[in-house]
Amino acid sequence: MSKIILTGDRPTGKLHVGHYVGSLKRRVELQNSGSFDDIYIMIADAQALTDNADNPKKVRDNIMEVALDYLSCGIDPEKSTLLIQSEVPELTELSFYYMNLVTVSRVQRNPTVKSEIQMRNFEASIPVGFFTYPISQAADITAFKATTVPVGEDQLPMLEQTKEIVRKFNSVYGDTLVEPEILLPDNKACLRLPGIDGKAKMSKSLGNCIYLSEETNEIKKKVMSMYTDPDHIKIEDPGKLEGNTVFTYLDAFSTKEHFEEFLPDYSCLDELKEHYTKGGLGDVKVKKFLNNVIQSELEPIRNRRAEYQKDITYVYDILKSGTEKAREVAANTLSEVKNSMKINYFDNREWLEEQIKKYS
Ligand code: TRP
Repeated sequence: MSKIILTGDRPTGKLHVGHYVGSLKRRVELQNSGSFDDIYIMIADAQALTDNADNPKKVRDNIMEVALDYLSCGIDPEKSTLLIQSEVPELTELSFYYMNLVTVSRVQRNPTVKSEIQMRNFEASIPVGFFTYPISQAADITAFKATTVPVGEDQLPMLEQTKEIVRKFNSVYGDTLVEPEILLPDNKACLRLPGIDGKAKMSKSLGNCIYLSEETNEIKKKVMSMYTDPDHIKIEDPGKLEGNTVFTYLDAFSTKEHFEEFLPDYSCLDELKEHYTKGGLGDVKVKKFLNNVIQSELEPIRNRRAEYQKDITYVYDILKSGTEKAREVAANTLSEVKNSMKINYFDNREWLEEQIKKYS
């Protein structure tokens, strides 16, 4: 069986380092591993509209931002297909049929939907479109017969929902759809990178993100202002690692090579941590190291972005041709789905023959 990746993001803002360590970096590695037959990366604008219906401009404006972020991280349009969700209407049609296989109470139990309803103050009046987005996500995944979905931990409930839909569909209508596997980051610190203020969630409105497109000075300012251990006042004081954002970021970003290059007094992160907890290691030194690490990761990304920004028409063409290719694949799956459901009245003469027989 072919190995196929599908993943994506909602275009509601620029991507940040949380997206990078949680998913983008892994996508590029998977892309370059050569072990996948097809890779689809979706800019999920239709899904973004489910909770931004009053602000389509925000979604429209961020499509190119996200495409630039993808390409600058190393997504290679020769190896991965980039697509815009709303330009593949077959996905909507698939969703409509899948909706009959899911109960309202099942969606209500989805933990991600539950917490998003709270976050957006939707409790009193949930838009139906928003409520059904896990079903539309199942359409995204199954339309491309994805076997592997590399995403962050918050997407686990969506994958569970997708698997249930696949099993239900296949058992009711016969084997048609492929059950996908989620692929989570294996580094725990990457599962959910906190904001620079130590808050659990990085968000634009909290102003606590480091963006992939951020300039050198801005990055440095943000790293130097990061939340550490508030009780670590004097250098001699023993420091705490739990909830210490600088160390969480080092867990996510730093490698042995970074130590060789920027902090050769220590051989690895464990040694640095030991010194910090014993006392005698100041925050500024650790922050400077983290700044070097992040700068060295983000610099090539920023440079590549600058190159792509010089040729926006080229990026547009990548999105357009990727979407066209994706549409063909999704149309194929849709036709298999309709065939399995026997709602393909005009595809062959089978239905007509039945009717003729019935009325003769
Ligand atoms: N829900 C994802 C997010 O919030 C975006 C997304 C839409 C997606 N469709 C998908 C991710 C299919 C993986 C697979 O970022």
